[in-house]
Amino acid sequence: MSENLISKILKGEETEIPIWFLRQAGRHIPEYFEIRKRETNFITFCLNEELIIESTTLPLKYYDLDAAIIFSDILMIPWAMNRNVQFTKNHGPSMKPMIPGETKILKNICIVSKLEPLKNSITYLRNSLPKSTGLIGFAGAPWTLACYMIEGKGSKDFIKTRKALWSSHKWFMELIETLIIYVADILEMQAKAGADILMIFDSWSHMIPNSFFNKCAIRPTARIVDILRSRNISLPVIGFPFKAGASIVKYSFESKVDCVSLDWSVDLKWAVKNINKNIAIQGNLDPASLIPFPSDHLRKNVLTILDIMKGRKFIFNVGHGLTPECKIDNVNEVISIVRSYSRKL
Ligand code: CP3
Repeated sequence: MSENLISKILKGEETEIPIWFLRQAGRHIPEYFEIRKRETNFITFCLNEELIIESTTLPLKYYDLDAAIIFSDILMIPWAMNRNVQFTKNHGPSMKPMIPGETKILKNICIVSKLEPLKNSITYLRNSLPKSTGLIGFAGAPWTLACYMIEGKGSKDFIKTRKALWSSHKWFMELIETLIIYVADILEMQAKAGADILMIFDSWSHMIPNSFFNKCAIRPTARIVDILRSRNISLPVIGFPFKAGASIVKYSFESKVDCVSLDWSVDLKWAVKNINKNIAIQGNLDPASLIPFPSDHLRKNVLTILDIMKGRKFIFNVGHGLTPECKIDNVNEVISIVRSYSRKL
């Protein structure tokens, strides 16, 4: 069996168009609830090898995909940093908020040793999955982790975080520096355990004041990639600067990622013209378009994306995670449209 299409395309080889879905392992598959029920606490769930493995492989039972994303959460880093991370039903995640100026900045914690189950699951999965299925390891970007750590929970505008950026700037940047090391450590661990591709989720990059985008999103990502390369990790890295608008252009040239994942709001014609042509593009079907069933628009939407991306290094995906309402039949239809288009090229 040949190497997976995603690794191939990111190495610059000619391939068919690869396809996988953000949050493909979650709640839109009813069977997920059966697996999820076996552990009430979501953190404990993410630390249980058997459950990680079952959740990671679940979408492969339903779909012909080019990758599996390891089941974990970006907030496992703050959890390992002892921030008392909790997931409460219907309330989302919460943790002990960091106080700006707090002198002890949580350096030198061996987070990797606390995430052994993640490492062991990756090794197991890489040995058992077919070679044609890429295994994606991931982490949250430093800014997005800082958002949750300072706010102590999700927020619509992350005002406490932005205030800290202005009022406790030196402290804030020290936190970002600390997180750069932890993100690099966890990605290195996943690479060494057997991941084929790494992805960095900057889910709240659209909260960064524009004058700080370089300092808070681009430079930290470039530093993470540099650290990985200095540790002899040559795996491709996908960056996801969610909703970052025009700043995505600079990100594509300077963050050192091999692929930029685009959210559903990005005009792909603009992206093709402006984004660094040396790197790949991933995206950007609106996950909400997978909810109505039957859908009159789905086929046309997918073909429009494929036509615009013709001739570019491109990985088909959604522009953000699949939501619980997304329909399995729609996901399968998208895959079959992409596969047959790709074979005709
Ligand atoms: O298929 C996959 O991608 C599975 C692995 C995965 C999860 N979270 C599992 C999860 C991945 C890659 C993530 C990333 C993640 N987590 C992000 C970045 C991507 C994005 O969506 O922007 C963020 C911001 C988080 C933080 C997070 N985790 C929140 C805000 C929540 C609660 C809201 C929600 O969607 O429920 C989670 C919980 C979470 N992470 C669930 C899953 C399947 C649902 C919890 C459950 O099943 O009980």
